[in-house]
Amino acid sequence: MPEVPSYRIFASSQSASTALAEDISQLIRSRDSEERTTVLGLATGNTPIELYKELIRMHRAGLSFRNVVTFNLDEYIGIEREHPESYWQFMHSHLFNHIDINPENIHIPDGMVAADNIESHCSAYENHIEEAGGIDLQVLGIGRNGHIGFNEPGVSPDVATHATDLNQVTINDAAEAFGGAADVPQRAITMGVKTILGAQRIALLAFGSSKADIVERALTSGITSEVPATYLQSHPDTTFFLDQDAGKRLS
Ligand code: PGA
Repeated sequence: MPEVPSYRIFASSQSASTALAEDISQLIRSRDSEERTTVLGLATGNTPIELYKELIRMHRAGLSFRNVVTFNLDEYIGIEREHPESYWQFMHSHLFNHIDINPENIHIPDGMVAADNIESHCSAYENHIEEAGGIDLQVLGIGRNGHIGFNEPGVSPDVATHATDLNQVTINDAAEAFGGAADVPQRAITMGVKTILGAQRIALLAFGSSKADIVERALTSGITSEVPATYLQSHPDTTFFLDQDAGKRLS
């Protein structure tokens, strides 16, 4: 029987973010004390912004990211790093520019890789994760359609990092940021479900009423490719960090 991921409902998105930041800080300190690096899988979107603010605050209070290696879930295909909506920009402005991480330890799929080289870029990304020792803790958000990373409805659980078409719900949700759906990239590179399930531990953040239905389905419906987040039910150490609104359909 798959284990249903556990979930924690917090009074606010801020307290959920602080709790996860504390877990991450403990993980980094404990691995530092064993002189081991910490490998974090990171996510973009509105949801993890408070988490990153909290990690920056902790860095200012003494937490070092010198021995941290990061792998981001995904990046849009066809936009430059410098584009204001690239995930490279997002991660630098919301986190990396404010902490002492070694730039060589930051990994984000390259959205400008030539079409012929996408496959080799994706397999190199997987190799880098393996060489780093695998992901200790993967942070996830969840799309309203149940996507994790850009693993959209219909995705197989056996696929590693790959290029994918974006689902219409995903494009509509990104339309405002891009100034209209027509300007949203149609494709992205994403870690696969297989990559995500390879993490030792997974923490999924979801906040607000708009996520309540999909959070309920992710946790309580059977595993189905139509809701990629249900694949997390087959992972032994996944926790959903929710605020009251996102958790309101759970008993
Ligand atoms: P959001 O996106 O954090 O902006 O809601 C989550 C996601 O699509 O994974």
